[in-house]
Amino acid sequence: MPHLIVTGRDGQTRRIEYRPSRALSDALHEGGYMELRALCGGCMTCATCHVYVDPRSPASRPPFGELEGIVIGGLAAPRENSRLACQLVLTAAEDGLALTIPPEG
Ligand code: FES
Repeated sequence: MPHLIVTGRDGQTRRIEYRPSRALSDALHEGGYMELRALCGGCMTCATCHVYVDPRSPASRPPFGELEGIVIGGLAAPRENSRLACQLVLTAAEDGLALTIPPEG
């Protein structure tokens, strides 16, 4: 099964498996990362699913949707590698993708 490399808010890095065709936010919840709240369920109104995707990872830079870019632009500390985990639908191509859940705020 494909996997993700996740650094949580506690600074610990773990490997979790995921099922393709799921949103990254769902895969993180299934892997136990409930700190990624994803409150709006993918409607792009909350940005509580914000993650930093390692740009060296497989398939790490799919293009933003326009609205996703606007929401990320409104974050307090956006980075070039910021993504909304609810908008990134995983495929087998993301096997090995590494990401960090940023501090809340
Ligand atoms: S879950 Fe709200 S923007 Fe992603």
